[in-house]
Amino acid sequence: SAVSLLCARHCCRKTHKKLRISEAFSSQLGANVTVQGWVRSARAQKVNVFLHVNDGSSLQSLQVVAGAELNDPLLTFGSAVEVSGILQESPHEKQPLELQADSIRVIGECDPVDFPFKVKKRHGLEYIRQFPHLRCRTNAFSSLLRIRSEATSAIHSYFKDNGFVQIHTPIITSNDCEGAGELFQVEPAGADEHFFSVPAFLTVSGQLHLEATAGAFSKVYTFGPTFRAENSQSRRHLAEFYMVEAEISFTQSMEDLTKVMEDMFRSATEHVLARCVEDVDLFHRHVTPGHRETVDSMLKKSFPVITYTEAVDILTRSSEQFAFPSDWGCDLKTEHEKYLVKHCGNVPVFVTDYPYDLKPFYARDNQDGPRHTAAAVDLLVPGVGELCGGSLREERLSVLRARLEQLGLEDAYSWYLDLRRFGSAPHGGFGLGFERYLQCLLGVDNIKDVIPFPRFSRSCLL
Ligand code: 4AD
Repeated sequence: SAVSLLCARHCCRKTHKKLRISEAFSSQLGANVTVQGWVRSARAQKVNVFLHVNDGSSLQSLQVVAGAELNDPLLTFGSAVEVSGILQESPHEKQPLELQADSIRVIGECDPVDFPFKVKKRHGLEYIRQFPHLRCRTNAFSSLLRIRSEATSAIHSYFKDNGFVQIHTPIITSNDCEGAGELFQVEPAGADEHFFSVPAFLTVSGQLHLEATAGAFSKVYTFGPTFRAENSQSRRHLAEFYMVEAEISFTQSMEDLTKVMEDMFRSATEHVLARCVEDVDLFHRHVTPGHRETVDSMLKKSFPVITYTEAVDILTRSSEQFAFPSDWGCDLKTEHEKYLVKHCGNVPVFVTDYPYDLKPFYARDNQDGPRHTAAAVDLLVPGVGELCGGSLREERLSVLRARLEQLGLEDAYSWYLDLRRFGSAPHGGFGLGFERYLQCLLGVDNIKDVIPFPRFSRSCLL
């Protein structure tokens, strides 16, 4: 909103329009404006003071030039300021314009000695991770958060443009969708009985609720926080992460699923590359140099599809020494996934038809003999390994009931069986780990560096 300010220095009745710095860059020369932000560098000369001020609206900071009389010892790196003045042409090519200040007000001081970041120094992601409450003041992390925000919009746009209905699946649930037992239980502090009468947990996946709604809307999706009590310090696991999940009714084959996964990946990636040019460039040039070629090559061709059985053959024939076994029936580990991605040309690759016994109860039985498989699919991507997991769902009541009985889960999932009793249709869906997507897009090695406040075992800072 435009706010009128009285120019303090000259006591004239000049009005200044309050702008975000990104707006100032596209404003008319000669406009009187006020910006608010944080000092990224301050340099005083005999005649002039030069500041760079950033307010998070863009990677670029606005250069402020002021007469030496406006200098203030409190104008230090990190301090919060308000600057009013006139936009003028900048002598520097890189800057479209600069602000000739006629007033500078220090709103919040910052002790440059104690402040963990130093002016003009490029701090590594590992260093800045130690300061989760302050790291968004660095260029790299503020770029990351703008990209994260834009990627979120891109994913919502993809689904909206393709006729999906967004469903807010519950955070608190009584089911363990994945059956892996990595559940955080939810009870009021100090309670000695179940608040919900039954044990309740933070969701590990919105899939089952999505399946219920896909039975009315055909194409649904959800995008929200997901929780897993993974006792892991790995570079690709968090206890709280964001998952994008979609469910599609009336599927004919696995291709109906892989097409949506691939289209969504492409659409989101192209959107981010087009809208966040400077921020992505900062990563691809300075934080993870060389990664841009990987991203470009990912978008060039359609993603290859191999079966799990073919994947195992590739692993067995390779001369690589793996730490974990890769025999038929074993789950693929990160090392196997990364090898398969490299083998396929360092592009995303779909692996389909996993051993039936490795997959949760909902995966559709391929009923295919001794090497018994389920119609499940993972999307593996460069640098990360598994990005998405999905499957066709078992829509046949008798097959699903037999599986649930075998697992002793028939009563707990009677509502899920109802979905097959009342107008069951072939359907399938998948989940994409949003943080892993950002790792893949930006080439970031550690998942803790792509989420504002990471939660993982033995760490819940702030
Ligand atoms: O493969 P997952 O476990 O699949 C499901 O939960 C299905 N119910 C989804 C569905 O079909 N609707 O998880 C999906 C993706 C993984 O491929 C991975 O990218 C991400 O979620 N993921 C994690 N990301 C960060 N930290 C963790 N602990 C993760 N666990 C899974």
